[in-house]
Amino acid sequence: MHQNMVEVRDLSKTFKRSNGEMLDAVKNVSFDIRQGEIFSLLGPNGAGKTTTISMISGLLTPTHGDATIGGHSITRQPLEAKKLLGVVPQEIALYPTLSARQNLEFFGKMYGLSGAALSKRADEVLEFIDLKDRQHDKIESFSGGMKRRVNIGVGLLHQPRLIYMDEPTVGIDPQSRRRILDTVKQMQTEMGMTVLYTSHLMEEVQEISDRVGIIDHGELIAVGTVGDLIQKVGEEDRLILKVGSQVVSELLLTRFRHEVEGVTGATHEQAHSNGSDGSATQPDGLIIVIARRGRRALPDLIRVANDSGLDIVSVEVREPDLEAVFLHLTGRELRD
Ligand SMILES: Nc1ncnc2c1ncn2[C@@H]1O[C@H](COP(=O)(O)OP(=O)(O)O)[C@@H](O)[C@H]1O
Ligand SMILES: [Mg+2]
Repeated sequence: MHQNMVEVRDLSKTFKRSNGEMLDAVKNVSFDIRQGEIFSLLGPNGAGKTTTISMISGLLTPTHGDATIGGHSITRQPLEAKKLLGVVPQEIALYPTLSARQNLEFFGKMYGLSGAALSKRADEVLEFIDLKDRQHDKIESFSGGMKRRVNIGVGLLHQPRLIYMDEPTVGIDPQSRRRILDTVKQMQTEMGMTVLYTSHLMEEVQEISDRVGIIDHGELIAVGTVGDLIQKVGEEDRLILKVGSQVVSELLLTRFRHEVEGVTGATHEQAHSNGSDGSATQPDGLIIVIARRGRRALPDLIRVANDSGLDIVSVEVREPDLEAVFLHLTGRELRD
């Protein structure tokens, strides 16, 4: 048996946009997914996650490159490859006027299940996604989180060894998100499945993944365990200094870098947050400082800022995480 469940090699996709321009949505991406691991693709919206998943599940033909599942090429032996694979698409793909059970039975028939075997499998899946008590209700009456769970159930019907889950927690409440993350872990621990998970949310990827690939502008820019990736940024902390609508000069940022020990970088970002009355947006300036032993650098940072006539409204010290890895690799924040 292959040690790698999935092997992706030099995968590329170029789209022709409606204006005639060519877009390299995925560029020479290569990675492996080992048997039994949870592997995540982490990247912002538009990074190429769905395009990658579509190619390695046989829904989209690569411009270049290939992938194997259990040793079978998805482009040349798609039937063998797809037998091992379940897919949970980013967009909910269910019939709203059918019940949860009717949806599972419909898709089960497409997988070739029928009769008692289909009924038994629908029961097992409903049990696993914890929707037995709502199985006869129509999908259109379900919450976003419940629809997501049925979507996952469809992907599990034919008992695949491998499942791809494309942003399964987008647009649902925190409790439903928690439930889905637990479900992902259960697939690994109780069913021995291999999981490819995608998200633009650093926290959940950090929590569930054995290994992570960071994808940005169609390129895989880093692969490793969360620990490996964090090591790349070294021991540097990030200090988030809130400065409201005050003007931040380049000179101040330069002074931070030159005069404060441990500081390796300082940038200014203008964000907008909702006003306290919930209506208007207020400017919400941030200075992001990268520093070794950030807490120690703090008093000097505040002194230099005050020296330049800048008030620091609040300070947050963030220890290295995947967000910091992304910032380190791209120079940009990984945000919603
Ligand atoms: N069918 C398509 N035609 C043209 N451009 C596309 C198509 N599908 C995706 N794209 C573009 O490819 C890029 C990657 O998209 P996608 O893979 O959906 O990213 P992600 O899933 O990481 O948000 C985006 O710029 C997107 O607009
Ligand atoms: Mg996507």
